[in-house]
Amino acid sequence: MILAAARNDTIRSLVATAPVSRDVVSRFVAGETTADAVAATRRLVDSGLAVTLDYLGEDTTDAIQAANTVDAYVELLEHLHAENLADRAEVSVKLSAVGQLLDEKLALDNAARICRAAQAAGTTVTLDMEDHTTTDSTLRVLGELRRTWPWVGAVLQAYLRRTVDDATRLATEGSRVRLCKGAYSEPETVAYPDTAEVDKSYVRCVNALLAGEGYPMFATHDPRLIRIIGERARVHGREPGGFEYQMLFGIRPEEQLRLARLGNTVRVYVPYGGEWYGYLMRRMAERPANTMFFLRAVMTR
Ligand code: FDA
Repeated sequence: MILAAARNDTIRSLVATAPVSRDVVSRFVAGETTADAVAATRRLVDSGLAVTLDYLGEDTTDAIQAANTVDAYVELLEHLHAENLADRAEVSVKLSAVGQLLDEKLALDNAARICRAAQAAGTTVTLDMEDHTTTDSTLRVLGELRRTWPWVGAVLQAYLRRTVDDATRLATEGSRVRLCKGAYSEPETVAYPDTAEVDKSYVRCVNALLAGEGYPMFATHDPRLIRIIGERARVHGREPGGFEYQMLFGIRPEEQLRLARLGNTVRVYVPYGGEWYGYLMRRMAERPANTMFFLRAVMTR
């Protein structure tokens, strides 16, 4: 039902213009333009947080649209540099938004353009991870990009059975790895169906990343996991600054500030752009837990 609504233009315009949904959207999405994204970044940075920005759009099957997405990132990076925000703000990129569904080489070339612009701006890029059918391709592209830009970050999803091995393999010097639970609907053959199993896998991956030599980025809002990450970081002798916490824009903002005030690096993932409607609807449709996730954030505002 949610996916049908996501494709229906009448429902889309009703949702887009209803005051309540504009309110909800502005809670989770920074706005539609580069100026909106930069303004949100400025506010977060001024409050002591770091930022990673996501220009919304995914599953592109059109090379021109993929090129437009690259242009949007390049423009954003130029503005972050000009506004002296590049030392606190980087970008997150979904390879499916820059052509991965069409051709892996196209996605690689497009991602390379974004990396070049990030290098010129003095910041970094992290490749988001999408559904499990893209994991190997995304890790291949990551490997290629890292030959030139070793700071390109990876995302690993704890719900995948393979991930503890990927975490161990990627935890090498200079690597940046974001660990999240995973947001897509996946078959049991590849992913743990049970949330308790996902949490256990998350902790195994926390240990693997902290034991390695890379820079771990722990993306979760889960209070229990946040506590465990802090404890495990101490056991592994990691000072604040030797790893970071990451959370989504609009979710648990007080907790973001609390962790930052303790001296931790806390990075907020900030989505922006015109494609917010599909983004929110698809996230909710993909997994019932995602709907609960957004509803909980609305209830706890
Ligand atoms: P989960 O949703 O399981 O919630 C666990 C607990 O956290 C809850 O029981 C509650 O106690 C607390 N909680 C959650 N929301 C709360 C709220 N609003 N208020 C109060 N308490 C709340 N996924 C992916 O597949 N690929 C990717 O590339 C990324 N990238 C990414 C970047 C960043 C920075 C983040 C934070 C997340 C992602 N994700 C992602 C999404 C991720 O996989 C996952 O779906 C969400 O983060 C939700 O999982 P949590 O770990 O937050 O816990």
